[in-house]
Amino acid sequence: MSKIRTLRSNDIPHLLDLSTAAGWNQTAADWERLLHLCRDNCWGIEIDGRVVSSTTAIRYASDLAWIGMVLTHPEYRKRGLASSLMQHAIDDVRKDVKWIKLDASDEGKPIYEKLGFVEETHLQRWRRPAGPADRLSSYMVHDYIVDPSFDRAYFGAYRIPLLNSLRRDGGSSFVMGYGYAMTRPGALASYFGPCVVRTSEAARALLEDAIAKHQDKDMFWDLFAGNRDAVKLAREYGFQPVRHLTRMALRCDPDVVPMLRNESSVFAIAGFEYG
Ligand SMILES: CC(C)(COP(=O)(O)OP(=O)(O)OC[C@H]1O[C@@H](n2cnc3c(N)ncnc32)[C@H](O)[C@@H]1OP(=O)(O)O)[C@@H](O)C(=O)NCCC(=O)NCCS
Repeated sequence: MSKIRTLRSNDIPHLLDLSTAAGWNQTAADWERLLHLCRDNCWGIEIDGRVVSSTTAIRYASDLAWIGMVLTHPEYRKRGLASSLMQHAIDDVRKDVKWIKLDASDEGKPIYEKLGFVEETHLQRWRRPAGPADRLSSYMVHDYIVDPSFDRAYFGAYRIPLLNSLRRDGGSSFVMGYGYAMTRPGALASYFGPCVVRTSEAARALLEDAIAKHQDKDMFWDLFAGNRDAVKLAREYGFQPVRHLTRMALRCDPDVVPMLRNESSVFAIAGFEYG
């Protein structure tokens, strides 16, 4: 079996090849952010001088580790590389957190099931073609100010370093008293998310603001399939579902109670690699 090693910034060209080969939306800046936020918790397998398989794990305090970027180059699949990286990631983080979670593609799901992950909920990726949208909302949208307690109450874990990083690299806005949304560039489409709001009308205002700022490019929006208000808004603004994923969880501490989270207020997740 090839050796697992920690990924570094100079691996980014190979990592970008991996995500591009899978048809994913990450840019070099996204990989850079992951390597920075995950610190030493990004691993890869190098064969013949090229990183051919990857896995990242970002920690949200001691509550949660989020696994992402589980990728193997098409020429090296079905040799156990992703499974061994996943096992390595679990062994590394499980002593420090209560939960490990991830968003699984249909290809990845059997690997995670074998490692003990169970289904938690369902997600969909929606895509909107470039173009303007009517402005129907009368809400005022402002620049976003980070409020750790607000986000944690809905997401379920402390993720301010992630939000600060996303805010620096993309756009962010809020409706006073109702919630916030962020956008960022992507390789294939601009990305709408995270969006955490108390009402659907606030989500509408933030979405219109996001579309106005990114109308020259297609837009991705990853949402909980069970959030009917989010689905309704997505349809209304011309998004179509293009992928589905399964959120899966591994309990690391047998005595821990389920994490609080509120899917009806999370209108958009931060990304499959972030939760
Ligand atoms: C999903 C993905 C990461 C799997 O990578 P991989 O390195 O091929 O994964 P593994 O080799 O560990 O396991 C894949 C399969 O190969 C089998 N396998 C493992 N070792 C093997 C070997 N020596 N010989 C033959 N098959 C083997 C596994 O049992 C598994 O089979 P299963 O799907 O029936 O469970 C890869 O297909 C990929 O990059 N897909 C696109 C991106 C994606 O969907 N990523 C997951 C996001 S959640």
